[in-house]
Amino acid sequence: MKPLAARTDALRQSDIRAVTFEVNRVGGINLGQGICDLATPTPIVEATVAALRDGSQIYTAYNGTQALREAIADKAMSFNGIPVEGPESVVVSTGSTGAFLATVLTLFEPGDEVILFEPFYGYHAGILRLHGIRPVAVPLTKGGGRWTFDPDRLADAIADRTKAVLVCTPANPSGKVWSEDELAALYAEVERHDLWVLTDEIYEHMVYDGRRHLSPASRDGAYERTITLSGFSKTFNMTGWRLGYAVAPAEVAEKIGLVNDLTTICAPAPLQHGLAAALPLPEAYYTQMLADYTAKRTRMVDALRACGFDADPPEGAYYVLAGLGDRLGTPGFENARTATTTLIETAGVACVPGPSFFADPADGDGHLRFCYAKEASVLDEACDRLVDAFG
Ligand SMILES: Cc1ncc(COP(=O)(O)O)c(C=O)c1O
Repeated sequence: MKPLAARTDALRQSDIRAVTFEVNRVGGINLGQGICDLATPTPIVEATVAALRDGSQIYTAYNGTQALREAIADKAMSFNGIPVEGPESVVVSTGSTGAFLATVLTLFEPGDEVILFEPFYGYHAGILRLHGIRPVAVPLTKGGGRWTFDPDRLADAIADRTKAVLVCTPANPSGKVWSEDELAALYAEVERHDLWVLTDEIYEHMVYDGRRHLSPASRDGAYERTITLSGFSKTFNMTGWRLGYAVAPAEVAEKIGLVNDLTTICAPAPLQHGLAAALPLPEAYYTQMLADYTAKRTRMVDALRACGFDADPPEGAYYVLAGLGDRLGTPGFENARTATTTLIETAGVACVPGPSFFADPADGDGHLRFCYAKEASVLDEACDRLVDAFG
């Protein structure tokens, strides 16, 4: 047999999926994978059932239905403050991941480099590598409970082949919410070197303690060089529906849409029709969601601290990236992977080992990521189990 494509050589099952398999085997609680087990809001479900009954089952336009693109364009203007031209600036895709893939294929050639900030979301690096594009990691530093960005390190990482910088705000796994000053420093570099900016804002509605989500594309002059990626998986607890989008200047969005046509033709039609009919959801939905996640964040951080881990409340998203603290190097906690196994076997609780989020896996060895997007009773049970076992 002829060999498989070389691009698959380095592909392995991700730690996140491996951990899910292990925790399911022992019937434990999965705080590893970033899936939310809460219900999809009823108005969205009902509108989608109606769309299915109405026979909205045929392909939509490659960039999404007009109604959904209009709803997203309205939200991009009012919530994100992005100066979109209109629905022609929006491409609906199969999750924000589908939109990211179409954007990557639209912007980059093999051999190009894209800068991302470490710790990073593994799919960003993985999808770039799959297409022969080199992810270059610029480390963030943790100090005073927050992950900060050093513009000098960004400047040092920019090279001849650098074509873009990727910002995740709020970030998975660090929870970092990029501030006005940080974005100003980032765009100063980006403009100096004429780079594109890709932003992943999938956690845009989970920003705590009165902070405000700042969309990079809303900055003066930023829209022309910024592709904003987001979606509905996290906000509406619908990770399996696969609906997300890219927002970009109309002529760039047109190309992303044409690539989206060739990769997937379109996002699932009845789900697009149903979601568009249900949007916008009332403001109270978002307020309640944030209040619920704020309480869960406290519950998670308190339990991890009681276990002796270094845990700070994240600024955004729904993960705690905890340090192993004094436990690092003790039996069962020799590194992040053995610590993950120990947590599964002793407490029946799964997390994700830190190396998944670092270019050099050794740099992640002192960290574990816990996801608190769970029903309150399930999270309570997981926290009790952790404290009983390690507190
Ligand atoms: C930062 C980030 N972006 C994107 C995704 C996936 O989003 P979607 O379901 O819209 O493809 C995730 C899922 O965990 C994520 O953490």
